[in-house]
Amino acid sequence: MNGVVGRNVVLARVDSATPRRGRDGARVKPAGTAGHFQNRHAPPEPRDITKRAAPQKGTVAATFEELDWSRTPIGEVSLRRRQDPVTREILFEVKLGDEFLMSSAFTVAEIELARIALGRLPGGTLDVAVGGLGLGYTAQRVLADARVRELVVVELLRPVISWHRQGLVPVGPTLTADARCRLIQGDFFEMSDGEGFDPEYPSRLFDAVILDIDHSPKHLLADESAKFYGPLGTRQLASHIAEGGVYAVWSNDPPEQAYLDVLAEVFVDVAADAVHFPNPLQGREATNTVYVATKA
Ligand SMILES: C[S@@+](CC[C@H](N)C(=O)[O-])C[C@H]1O[C@@H](n2cnc3c(N)ncnc32)[C@H](O)[C@@H]1O
Repeated sequence: MNGVVGRNVVLARVDSATPRRGRDGARVKPAGTAGHFQNRHAPPEPRDITKRAAPQKGTVAATFEELDWSRTPIGEVSLRRRQDPVTREILFEVKLGDEFLMSSAFTVAEIELARIALGRLPGGTLDVAVGGLGLGYTAQRVLADARVRELVVVELLRPVISWHRQGLVPVGPTLTADARCRLIQGDFFEMSDGEGFDPEYPSRLFDAVILDIDHSPKHLLADESAKFYGPLGTRQLASHIAEGGVYAVWSNDPPEQAYLDVLAEVFVDVAADAVHFPNPLQGREATNTVYVATKA
């Protein structure tokens, strides 16, 4: 674990006009663009985490703690824990540079992603690969399926894997205690281009490959991943899936016909399922998309 570790819990003013930490995340969209978690429902940020501050009129007191912060090749990644000022629930959040990658406040679609993918597979024992560990809710849902023999989770950022191994995030102990689960540091897209998602078994075939890395097939963390979502990249991805196996992708955006067309070139039974869930921060229902397709 690098950087600032376990800063003290403080009371902080919650205020939407928030100065942000300096950063060097070259692959991260600049502040103010439509970010993942801006769409994944960015919370108001604590404005000041350095000292106790009495709540003032028009502001709400919240506990806030930065559990870890590290420089990575794609920018600064941090894990924060805070108490929701309204529900009092303890929330965990991952930020990459300016962008919120994930919050434990919104996990419905991440869990549905795994449920929808595995729901397409009839009986038997299943070997599953997940791209993008995050807070681990997709992986946890995969392991909840008793048919799963082995789960390989490919995660680019070492600190994210460390959080799980150290039990800093709620799902970490479940994933790391389950002998069926292996957390592998690697670039999912490079591995798809190469010998697949299990370095111990090159060219291994999976019954399901489940992806939650980018905001959507068009809105990417790294521009160079674009080719993965095109016809060639999709065909290459499919080469790691067993016959009758399933590919599923999370998206923050509504279904895109262009991506459905790409999937239909390679897979059969291509669909885009809408997943609805309440967003109390915005006082409305939110919707994510799960693309799902079967290898003939
Ligand atoms: C939105 S989070 C995944 C959330 C996860 N579904 C969950 O339930 O918590 C995306 C994750 O993908 C990881 N990631 C980003 N680029 C990656 C890459 N090229 N290969 C593998 N993982 C990557 C990020 O570090 C992050 O942990």
